[in-house]
Amino acid sequence: MGKSVLLIIGGGISAYKCLELIRQFSARGIKTRCITTKAAEQFVTPLSVAALSGEKVFSDLFSLTDETEMGHIELSRSTDLVVVAPATADLMAKMAHGLANDLASTALLATDKPVLAAPAMNVRMWHHAATQRNVARLKADGIHFVGPNDGDMACGEFGLGRMAEPAEIVAAVEAMLSPQTKPLAGKKVFITAGPTQEAIDPVRYISNHSSGKQGFALAEAAVQMGAEVTLISGPVSLATPMGVKRVDITTADEMLVACEKTKNVDLAIFCAAVADWKVANQAQQKLKKNDKSAAPDLKFTANPDILKIIGGLKQTRPKVVVGFAAETENVIENANAKLKNKGCDLIIANDVSNGVFGSDKNLVHLISAKGVETWPQLSKAEVARRILEACAKLLK
Ligand SMILES: Cc1cc2nc3c(=O)[nH]c(=O)nc-3n(C[C@H](O)[C@H](O)[C@H](O)COP(=O)(O)O)c2cc1C
Repeated sequence: MGKSVLLIIGGGISAYKCLELIRQFSARGIKTRCITTKAAEQFVTPLSVAALSGEKVFSDLFSLTDETEMGHIELSRSTDLVVVAPATADLMAKMAHGLANDLASTALLATDKPVLAAPAMNVRMWHHAATQRNVARLKADGIHFVGPNDGDMACGEFGLGRMAEPAEIVAAVEAMLSPQTKPLAGKKVFITAGPTQEAIDPVRYISNHSSGKQGFALAEAAVQMGAEVTLISGPVSLATPMGVKRVDITTADEMLVACEKTKNVDLAIFCAAVADWKVANQAQQKLKKNDKSAAPDLKFTANPDILKIIGGLKQTRPKVVVGFAAETENVIENANAKLKNKGCDLIIANDVSNGVFGSDKNLVHLISAKGVETWPQLSKAEVARRILEACAKLLK
């Protein structure tokens, strides 16, 4: 392949897996040069890293010899890709804040090459709000991620936080290094995401548990595949993926207006969990609770069926229309009915009775006129990639 990777090894227990990672890079003809942090040297010896990579290992920012032979700037640029594995909580915090107080963090700040991070840490460290903020920041900055995976941890706990296996990291690197196929290049795409909120009165609303993660993953993947992407999102707490134009809405009516405003669309994906009903007798002032009054008598009226309206357009219908069907029973039957009733080309059906909302994983069925394809449980990023590949085929 003739490519080279700068591997930055952080100070985590899974640093030992880097030895296997270097071996697998080398088996594929990928040259690896390594930087170890001071903490990393507690977990893996520079000697082992040097022996396997066949290269000098760098760790000192203020080394006269290294700066004259291969300085930190050259180290970070004379490579095709930078891999951070394990990407510890500490190292990601430094990256997210632009700190540069050792060789690893300085090289990461100085590089102009794509960066792939393979996070690894205890499950609580991973779910901590600070780590999640840093990950969102890094994604918005264009850092790529592989893992973390679910499973048993070295600390005896179980959950998300295990570093991706070396083979998964190598696959992610190969995908990033191979000449980019951009199957959606030049295509105009809009994606809806998140929930809608329908007001009861000025302070209360009706909504649902949608986190927006699947829609945002679709937007991120569509940009990577070369599309021009508008993301029409209900209220969510997610960072906008790089390169995506985001339109924020609150209600289903506003979402319909935003969808109709987006013209000359090649592909429209309706991933948002739009409220089916809104309150017809919405109060202009806050409803008061007092001893005499019973619970308010709310009346509902149907929201516009955005998917059906856009799917049924004559001249201005997007070339490909994809709907999502979140079901809690008879998933495939209901999704098949939706495919026929709403004028869609594809329906992505999922059972949301088992904690999909807010999760990073999804188990979906792809339903088209040709039949049903059931995918295994995958990350929302991988589900997004596969859906977009199916759409790209339909657009050809
Ligand atoms: C036994 C042991 C295992 C550790 N494993 C991890 C880990 O898997 N992930 C992590 O983020 N931090 C881990 N830490 C904490 C890091 O070593 C510590 O935050 C260090 O400052 C990270 O340095 P770095 O920025 O060079 O990666 C571990 C610490 C110890 C003592």
